[in-house]
Amino acid sequence: MKESIPLQPILRVENLRKKYVGLDRPWLFEQVTTDVYPNDRIALIGVSGQGKSTLLRILSRLDKHDDGVLEYSGVSYEQVDPREWRTHIGYVAQQAVMIEETVDDNLRLYSSLHQKTYNEELAHLLLEKVGLSTLDLTQNAKSLSGGEKQRIALVRSLLMQPEVLLLDEITASLDQGSKKRVEELLHDWADTHQTAMIWVTHDLEQARQVSNRVWFMAQGTLLHDQGSTEFFKYPADDEVARFLNAAGEGRNI
Ligand SMILES: Nc1ncnc2c1ncn2[C@@H]1O[C@H](COP(=O)(O)OP(=O)(O)O)[C@@H](O)[C@H]1O
Ligand SMILES: [Mg+2]
Repeated sequence: MKESIPLQPILRVENLRKKYVGLDRPWLFEQVTTDVYPNDRIALIGVSGQGKSTLLRILSRLDKHDDGVLEYSGVSYEQVDPREWRTHIGYVAQQAVMIEETVDDNLRLYSSLHQKTYNEELAHLLLEKVGLSTLDLTQNAKSLSGGEKQRIALVRSLLMQPEVLLLDEITASLDQGSKKRVEELLHDWADTHQTAMIWVTHDLEQARQVSNRVWFMAQGTLLHDQGSTEFFKYPADDEVARFLNAAGEGRNI
């Protein structure tokens, strides 16, 4: 049986534009139009410099677009406080940002910022799932490795139980084992909570595995928005074919 699509997307984006800082061209991207529904698993891919991170930062209201519609559950971004917005739309940055306090303080950070009860039981469960159950939570977060920081940042965001999770190359500095654990956790989490995920990755094997939809950024726009199977199996144009070839040959995409 085909699942019925809810009438209202969680996120709606129409003709989003971001000015390019520099002289090369007027826009970093323009005419970005799309919707995000519960449980969408989107791999956001494209060569470096296309504005994938910038798009995620705009969707999480950490950056501003210059033009266009951005709505959460039918309400314009202008009518929602950015902090409130971020309790619904969680963003995990490529370089995890930690406050210079203990790991425990970092885990509690969003709960205290948003005056929500800290769910310690869930925090421990998530730490176990990402392979950090033996980590000393009383140590200063600055002593953590990059991979540990990334996983702590992910747990911290999951604790908010956002409806949309924006993930920016979050497994880039993880070993294979930790990477698999994180992928599994997010897969199960999205299943249970109907969370929509938009996941930037340069790892096409990962993109294939974790997504059912692809956003391909090229030519200064969201050039393709289609099902993952179709995207990888039947390259829509030369741009996609070149991108997949380059990735297949291990060239830096
Ligand atoms: N308004 C802007 N906001 C962010 N980056 C911009 C902007 N204008 C130009 N740039 C440049 O465009 C690139 C966009 O980068 P980014 O969003 O990180 O893309 P990606 O994640 O696809 O690599 C950066 O190299 C940045 O210097
Ligand atoms: Mg990026």
